[in-house]
Amino acid sequence: MTQSIETVVFPVAGLGSRFLPATKAIPKEMLPVVDQPLIQYAVNEAVAAGARRLIFVTGRTKKAIEDHFDMAYELETELAKSHKQALLDCAKSVLPEGVSCAFVRQSQPLGLGHAVLCAKPLVGDRPFGVILPDDLIDAGQQPVMQQLADQFDQTGRSVISVKRVPEDLTQLYGVVDIGDQAGPAAAIHSIVEKPARGQAPSNLAVVGRYLLTPRIFELLETTAPDQRGEIQLTDAIARLLDEQGADSYEFNGQHFDCGSKLGFLQATVEYALKHPELKQGFAEYLTHRGAL
Ligand code: G1P
Repeated sequence: MTQSIETVVFPVAGLGSRFLPATKAIPKEMLPVVDQPLIQYAVNEAVAAGARRLIFVTGRTKKAIEDHFDMAYELETELAKSHKQALLDCAKSVLPEGVSCAFVRQSQPLGLGHAVLCAKPLVGDRPFGVILPDDLIDAGQQPVMQQLADQFDQTGRSVISVKRVPEDLTQLYGVVDIGDQAGPAAAIHSIVEKPARGQAPSNLAVVGRYLLTPRIFELLETTAPDQRGEIQLTDAIARLLDEQGADSYEFNGQHFDCGSKLGFLQATVEYALKHPELKQGFAEYLTHRGAL
């Protein structure tokens, strides 16, 4: 029996400048992959893993995220009046009953570690999950947050999701060293944020899912900013290794980097090819297109 993760934090304060001008007035987390905004996939994953408290670390331009998870009173009343039950169910399905949302502002862009620290007063002193919505992962019936929770139950130590990446991409990620241990779970020997080319200890890259013990908050409070003035979650995890240890977990699932346009398009194609109403027509279109 898996211990459920009650609380999951979603750092969503980033500006999304890579998607300008699309993200000038709407948060990048509200961009849809087929028919759901990115943040909805992240929330669905958390809820499927048992989360009941969702904490969004937001910024000034992120009001649409709050509205998305709030009740849309006028819309729901209209749909109910006109007996559009399927659409009404769809509008209500964004948040299952019994799941609550809280929002906290990260008023300065001081990095991912600082964003997580902003959630401290709302998380309390229990282990919690972190999901970066840019990292969309299709893991079928076994969401990655659930995979991390299962691992956590065995050891009680923090767990960080990782995947193998080509060596010339390691400088884009946090990278872990697990020596010659065989996966999927392994004790992390060291972790480094965005190592310079040729300096990475391995090609095991951190992907945006973390299950952390609350000790991370105290470590974040005393973690020095990097050269860019940002407090890195990776640097606090490096200190956690000395105290409590932590494990990496090579998850099962297909990862899409939706922080990049290419990853976003790849996700759109793959999710469309699985969508019950679209898969046939879209596959036909792609087949036809490929034949051109
Ligand atoms: C963040 C983390 C990095 C991790 C990455 C995964 O970086 O700092 O360690 O590998 O997310 O997406 P960012 O992509 O926000 O620069």
